[in-house]
Amino acid sequence: MGGTNPYIEKAEYERPTKPYTVTFVSTDKTVKVDVDPAKVPYGETGLPGSLLDIALGAGFDLEHACGGVCACSTCHVIVKEGLQSCNEGTDDEFDQLEEAPEITLNSRLACQCVPNGTMDLVVQIPAVNKNLVKEGH
Ligand code: FES
Repeated sequence: MGGTNPYIEKAEYERPTKPYTVTFVSTDKTVKVDVDPAKVPYGETGLPGSLLDIALGAGFDLEHACGGVCACSTCHVIVKEGLQSCNEGTDDEFDQLEEAPEITLNSRLACQCVPNGTMDLVVQIPAVNKNLVKEGH
C-alpha cells in the first residue's frame, strides 16, 4: 500500500487528458503500455499516474522498496524519450536520486515522475536495479 511522505516537499504534477504510451525497457524485456487517463491512478503506489503507478498497473515489476514515497532510490529509471512531458522533480527527489548508481541527466524516481500525456515515453530500467530485484527474490 502506498502513501505520502510528510517530510518532503509536495510534488506538483498535471494529470494526462489524452491516451499516450510508455515503453518500459529492461535488460530482458520491453513492454509497451497504453495509458488511459480515465484509469489513472492504476493503484495506490507512487504519485497517481507516475511511471511506477503505470508500470505496476501493467504488471511490470519495478523495484519500489519504500512503497513509492520518495524515501529510497530503488525505483530509479532513465527517461530516454518524453522527459519534457513529465513534471519537474523536487529537490527531495533529486536528493534521493543521488543515492542511485549510474544516474544520468535523464534519471528520475519512477514514483515521483508523472507524465502529462502530451508525448509517448521510452523508459529504461537500469541493469543495476534489475539485479537488485533478482537478488531480492
Ligand atoms: S519507490 Fe522509493 S523512492 Fe520511489
